Amino acid sequence: MTEFRPRRSALYMPGSKERALEKAKSLPADCVLLDLEDAVAPDAKQGARDQVCRAVKEGGYGKREVVIRVNGLATEWGEADLASAAAAQPDAILLPKVQAPEDLTRVRGRLEADGAAPGIALWAMMETPLAILNAQAIAAAADAPAYPLRVFVMGTNDLAKETGAALVTDREPMLAWLSTCIAAARAYGLDIIDGVYNDFRDEDGLRRECDQGRLLGMDGKTLIHPGQVVPCNELFSPAANDVAWAKQVIAAFAEPANKGKGAITVEGRMVELLHAEMAKRTVAIAETIAELESDAG
Ligand code: COA
Ligand code: MG
Repeated sequence: MTEFRPRRSALYMPGSKERALEKAKSLPADCVLLDLEDAVAPDAKQGARDQVCRAVKEGGYGKREVVIRVNGLATEWGEADLASAAAAQPDAILLPKVQAPEDLTRVRGRLEADGAAPGIALWAMMETPLAILNAQAIAAAADAPAYPLRVFVMGTNDLAKETGAALVTDREPMLAWLSTCIAAARAYGLDIIDGVYNDFRDEDGLRRECDQGRLLGMDGKTLIHPGQVVPCNELFSPAANDVAWAKQVIAAFAEPANKGKGAITVEGRMVELLHAEMAKRTVAIAETIAELESDAG
């Protein structure tokens, strides 16, 4: 596992929209997803590619994780997107409509041929029926010396379109697919970010869906509008009382009297070593978030 990186909020923006690319530099999103794919009309593709790559090269996104979503290799824009994105050196390249491990192999081959710097991560959109059925095989192909896969991103709008499942409140028709992708991601040490909430003026609805994703095991949520960032960060941050409890658990296991024990009692509750491991993750997450927020800008 790599060092923990908060991925509570990942804000998409159309690569053709200069104002959005600029505004993102001042928004408290953990990740910015600069889109060349579905948010950009065909006749704006090339302009968007140039604009996004220029913005990434210029920088100014601070500690936000910068991610370019390219068009798929099967499209007429895919190869040029990939070559330009790699040259701009974002933190990661988000691949749409990944269906099988071979899709990663193909992209890695192109990146290598383009001389892309090793270390650029890949993120995969999970948004087709085959992606769900192949989730384990895709996650199992994550490790690679140059271009490792680090994150699954749920594409719930495409999933609804491709499967016929309805996009309804509480997302019952999709729960099995979300959980399948979470299990696959966790089995191979990937992070996973939930799909978007389309009704961006409905904050209560967004909060409900963030909470649902968090309870399922998601690390964060993809977003489409600046107004969604703050509530999303709030819901995906560890709660203060959870952090306090985690510190108590860590301290209890560190006491000399508890050395070597696998299970102990803290405030009347049984805690095991596995809880201490979870507690360390919770504290690490909280500390990284605090650091991020103290020098946000
Ligand atoms: N990222 C960064 N800035 C954004 C933004 C985004 N996703 N969406 C809107 N903004 C900016 C606007 O430019 C505007 O800036 P300003 O007023 O400070 O100059 C401000 O936020 C308010 O925007 P608003 O007028 O409320 O929204 P809008 O009507 O301009 O746009 C959408 C609404 C949905 C079209 C727009 O939010 C959007 O394009 N979202 C992203 C869509 C996307 O990328 N989809 C692909 C993945 S599903
Ligand atoms: Mg999509």
